Amino acid sequence: MAEAGVEVRICADPEALSRAAAEAFVILAEKSVRRSGTFSVALAGGSTPRGLYGALASPGFREQVPWLQTHLFWGDERCVSPNHEASNYKMVHDSLLVHVDIPVENIHAMHVDVDPRQGAALYEAELRAFFAGMTFPVFDLVLLGLGRDGHTASLFPGSPALVEKARWVVTSHSLETGTDRITLTLPVLNHAAAVFFLVAGKSKAEILGHVFSEENQCRELPAGRVRPDQGLVTWFVDERASEKLARS
Ligand code: 6PG
Repeated sequence: MAEAGVEVRICADPEALSRAAAEAFVILAEKSVRRSGTFSVALAGGSTPRGLYGALASPGFREQVPWLQTHLFWGDERCVSPNHEASNYKMVHDSLLVHVDIPVENIHAMHVDVDPRQGAALYEAELRAFFAGMTFPVFDLVLLGLGRDGHTASLFPGSPALVEKARWVVTSHSLETGTDRITLTLPVLNHAAAVFFLVAGKSKAEILGHVFSEENQCRELPAGRVRPDQGLVTWFVDERASEKLARS
């Protein structure tokens, strides 16, 4: 199952998955800060990552993260107010930001107070300022989830956002939730130095089996197309989500 540059870590349950991902997050943070002085992370939205953010906010982990050198970005955002229940910013704020001493200037939320296209353009400008001089931004870590249709970030199957080759940030639309989105593009995800997928629950077993099985055109699925040229992809999967994976 594990190919070059891809590692699958099967954890007993969502709590064990969050702890394993938090341990790997801390190791990566220390390595990145030692190497470049900063640790840049694109955060995942949805509900699964809440467990990881809660772990990072808990005593034992929060003292280990170099928050002063850590810069938090978002991989995608729903175009709703930052205090709306569906907001990915709100989910991170409530589960992590209120519990750790991270400087406000290190928190780079997506712009949802303007038209989505303008929000995407503003966020791309902010990324280009932070990752000055790069053809594409190289995040030290990109956190991602997996939707039951194989989407990741807000790159949905068949969406124009999925085939964007030049821009770093574009708009998208979720048919399931009917919300406009802002999302990092596939080239940005594929320039990451490291990617963690966080996948938990029986409802993800089917799609995860597709992503890892060649005959199902897994490369057509957005999540199956995250293959950083230089970076390692680590799938943190709980037992229930792993039920359709070949145990090779
Ligand atoms: C979002 C996420 C999205 C999410 C998947 C899985 O904004 O919803 O970016 O890609 O990661 O839909 O969501 P769950 O973790 O809630 O299953």
